[in-house]
Amino acid sequence: MKQLIKVCFCLILIFSGLKFSEAQNLEKWFPKQDLMKVGVYYYPEQWPKNQWERDIKNMAGMGFQFTHFAEFAWAYLEPEEGKYDFAWLDEAVDLAAKNGLKVIMCTPSAAPPIWLTEKYPETLITNVDGVVQQHGSREHCSWSSPKYRELNEKIVAAMAKKYGNDKRIWGWQIDNEPSHYAAEYDYSLAARASFINWLKKKYTSIEKLNEIWGTSFWSIKYQNFEQVRIPNSKELPQQPNPHAMLDFRRFTAAECADFVGFQSRILKQNISKDQWVTTNFMSNHTPNDPFLNKDLDFVTFTSYPVAGYAVGFGDNGFRVNSPTTNAFPHDYFRSIKGVTGIMELQPGQVNWGRYNPQPLPGAVRLWLFQAFGAGSAFVCAYRYRQPLYGSEQYHYGMVNPDGVTPSPGGKEYMQTMKEIAELKSKFKPAKEYPPQLTLSKTAILYSKDNIWETNYQRQSNQWNSQFHVTKYYEALRTLKVPVDFVEEDADFSKYSFLVVPAYQLVDEVLIAKLQKFADKGGQLILTCRFAQKDKNAKLWEAPFQAPLKKLAGVNVRFFDMLPDDKYGKVAFAGKNYEWNNWAEVLDPEEGTQTLATYFDQYYKSSAAISQKKTGKGTVTYIGVETDGFKLEKSILKGVYEKALSRPMEELPDGLDINYRDGLWVATNFHSTENRKVNLSSKAKILLGEADLKPCGVLVWTE
Ligand code: GAL
Repeated sequence: MKQLIKVCFCLILIFSGLKFSEAQNLEKWFPKQDLMKVGVYYYPEQWPKNQWERDIKNMAGMGFQFTHFAEFAWAYLEPEEGKYDFAWLDEAVDLAAKNGLKVIMCTPSAAPPIWLTEKYPETLITNVDGVVQQHGSREHCSWSSPKYRELNEKIVAAMAKKYGNDKRIWGWQIDNEPSHYAAEYDYSLAARASFINWLKKKYTSIEKLNEIWGTSFWSIKYQNFEQVRIPNSKELPQQPNPHAMLDFRRFTAAECADFVGFQSRILKQNISKDQWVTTNFMSNHTPNDPFLNKDLDFVTFTSYPVAGYAVGFGDNGFRVNSPTTNAFPHDYFRSIKGVTGIMELQPGQVNWGRYNPQPLPGAVRLWLFQAFGAGSAFVCAYRYRQPLYGSEQYHYGMVNPDGVTPSPGGKEYMQTMKEIAELKSKFKPAKEYPPQLTLSKTAILYSKDNIWETNYQRQSNQWNSQFHVTKYYEALRTLKVPVDFVEEDADFSKYSFLVVPAYQLVDEVLIAKLQKFADKGGQLILTCRFAQKDKNAKLWEAPFQAPLKKLAGVNVRFFDMLPDDKYGKVAFAGKNYEWNNWAEVLDPEEGTQTLATYFDQYYKSSAAISQKKTGKGTVTYIGVETDGFKLEKSILKGVYEKALSRPMEELPDGLDINYRDGLWVATNFHSTENRKVNLSSKAKILLGEADLKPCGVLVWTE
């Protein structure tokens, strides 16, 4: 049986594009029957030594299965340059092992010690205002600095040699949320030098760069690469060149991936194959492109659902978050290598939001169960103890400031870990993926290039590319459709539905691939701003969005946008929907059906949404973004119902349903209303009730 489960799991992962050996490794590290492991961060160096034993024992007593060490401990691991001290960490690892806890070991690059920045100031980043960032918080060193890399290489190699064959270490996290937080982009001399090298490799001659960047515009023309500066709006009277901006965004993401990859290679040279290597990106992954990190075993993320920005549903929605906003990173990060985990999950109230509300009682358990349903390999609570000093003083932990009493969030973790352990005892991994999920498998084509480019030249201050993608993702989730995020090189034929939201930069290869997908029977859904430019962000010397003509059978006459407080209307199936962000006025060709038209403005009755049959499939073009997104949802629903010949159930606000290995998991994110789950007659409830209270959880098999 075990063997069969392994084979099934490997096949699913191979199906998702992984090599056989990679799939085998993931199965070895995260056996399906283990479901989801839960652990917690601990910083031994931040607490008196005589408390470590008590803390680690209590941690295990609460039900945690692993802990996490060394993340910001560089000053303790290498107190003086070249002098390492692992004795304290050895003691902590011993205590973890004694209490049955595995350890995630973390490289300390996010918190360089004072001796490093004092002796090597060339390692420091410079922010957009030209201010050199200094020692005193964290992540102030440049991924591009050769010296910083050299010093990282030494500490990472020393740690890897020390712990790389230690069976008590489960795996490795590189750095922490690689980014520079508020400084975000690095404008240091080191970054500029590296950017110039990157440009040299990309363009090989300055003439080529001048051509692609269109530097004849405003006489920007460069004579040699050394003259190029990082485009920075703070030092330019008017907006920087958009092609330079796009390349700088691409460079920064590549530089970050290279920095993480560089640490990963050092680790891999020294550690056993039983240990895995990952990093943890912020769930909004600014300014990175996590898909560039495919050399990691898998990529994880950090999740803080309630920190002053959540809206959610019902009066207390700000204490819960919306299910789809919360689910997005699960699907996004899992899509990279077939597995993900939450490296940090909010423990309760935090300290760094615009305002920091208490989560609704039950919300922490709800987030854990959503992660569970979404297939997370593990969740690590951030953090065990509430800090008594330092920048995160008001940040809850699993225990109160007294260090021993479980916090409200800590209690919810305890309850959830117990419930998962009980589920485990009742659990038999399913042999096959439910056919209704296989048939509706959907890919969203996603690229950071498009997000960066479109956001930089938005045309309307209301436009937000990430928001546009997220809205489509939400619509799909509420139709209970399994979603993967894919890049252009993915095998589209694995999916029946392909959604391509606001995909502005295209080339012939992509257009041909999309055409093939639809011709072979796929349902292709393209949305506004599609194919406006080539990959260098240059407009076509042709009608607007020229590639649409053949693919979707429409011409774009022009596009329009309205003031913040004015709304236009689109008519579809006897109803009107309001828009004001973006509207393309379409001229469908013969054979292309008009699905929705503008109801007002001077282009009243012109097409807004079209559909064309091609080969065995269809191409739907949604040329408008409405505010409520109900129109887009109805269009999607229609495409799915027609293709699958069945009615699509639409989940009500707040309800989320996930499937993992034979278990269905429903979570109610509505903060004030109950939600009822429609169970089939075959359903066997393992946890909870079908009538879910706010923050309620239901687990069942079918
Ligand atoms: C995360 C960060 C952690 C910690 C946490 C506090 O973004 O990775 O190191 O600062 O926030 O909520």
